Amino acid sequence: MKRLDQVLAAEGVPAELELVINDVIVACKDIAFKLRQGELAGILGATEDENVQGETQKKLDVISNDLLKDILVANPYVRGIGSEEEDYTVAGSAAGKYLVTFDPLDGSSNIDVNLSVGTIFSVLEAQDDQSGDNQEVFLQNGRKQVAAGYVLYGPSALLVMTTGNGVNIFTLDTTVGEFILTKSGIQIPADTAEFAINMSNQRFWEPEMKQYIDDCLLGEEGPLGKRYNMRWVASMVAEVHRILMRGGIFMYPYDKRDPSKAGKLRLMYEGNPMSMIVEQAGGASSTGRMDIMDVAPKGIHDRVPVVLGSKNEVAKVVAYHSK
Ligand code: AHG
Ligand code: MN
Ligand code: MN
Repeated sequence: MKRLDQVLAAEGVPAELELVINDVIVACKDIAFKLRQGELAGILGATEDENVQGETQKKLDVISNDLLKDILVANPYVRGIGSEEEDYTVAGSAAGKYLVTFDPLDGSSNIDVNLSVGTIFSVLEAQDDQSGDNQEVFLQNGRKQVAAGYVLYGPSALLVMTTGNGVNIFTLDTTVGEFILTKSGIQIPADTAEFAINMSNQRFWEPEMKQYIDDCLLGEEGPLGKRYNMRWVASMVAEVHRILMRGGIFMYPYDKRDPSKAGKLRLMYEGNPMSMIVEQAGGASSTGRMDIMDVAPKGIHDRVPVVLGSKNEVAKVVAYHSK
């Protein structure tokens, strides 16, 4: 039986980084316990506020954000944090080396219906001595991440993470409150016949994405030559986890509902960390035109089109986009 700290030590992760990851996990355990209590803990429902993304904040978006923010800005090794639920980045310790970005609660439309949600995090190293309340210090591409992970609050709470040494899965042992290693060396099957996309946005997609999905729907008789199955949980953490376990392709492509945004998902809180995990598990991750982790962020809240999962299927979608 291995605990998270033992696994990180065996991977040669610097002690300071381990202490940062550990604080993320302390907050996530608290979120997991609150979710388990559900309505009894008074955590369901919406607030009257909107976040910088223009989305209504759920109570649990705010609670989760505050738990992560408060513990991380007090960590001496954290220069600053960036969150989907914060307008600006927040300074931590001036001497801290690490920057943490997070989506405190992903899939928040699922909270009130008691379905899967998650927390996503990404860790970067500060490249200069700027303060963490300056977003410039965060604007590094995804290849620079030193750790990325998510916690899936499902029937069991799972921590899935990478420090660039493959992907490990830990299960929360609620009897002792520790994440225990339950799977390692995760590999996503290279081929799949299962796609995940919100089909209700079809009329807003670019023609290339529309064509790929039309061809999937043609099944054996179409150019892709196989019958596809479809899933949509509306929680990226849950979709990515399904893909890690049995393969698949997940897409939240560019759509023209709001031409000023490059997609719905956010590069620094969703796109980059999930791309690192998927690539570390042998999968692929693209905007349709380039690798997500090569996208240079211009702002902390940038959006990005996302196509990720089984390597050969992602390559097909990329080929549609280059036709
Ligand atoms: P968040 O709850 O952090 O805003 O993210 C929700 C994201 C993602 O998890 C999911 O894949 C997608 O939005 C669902 O969007 P639709 O409601 O458009 O299906
Ligand atoms: Mn999200
Ligand atoms: Mn969120």
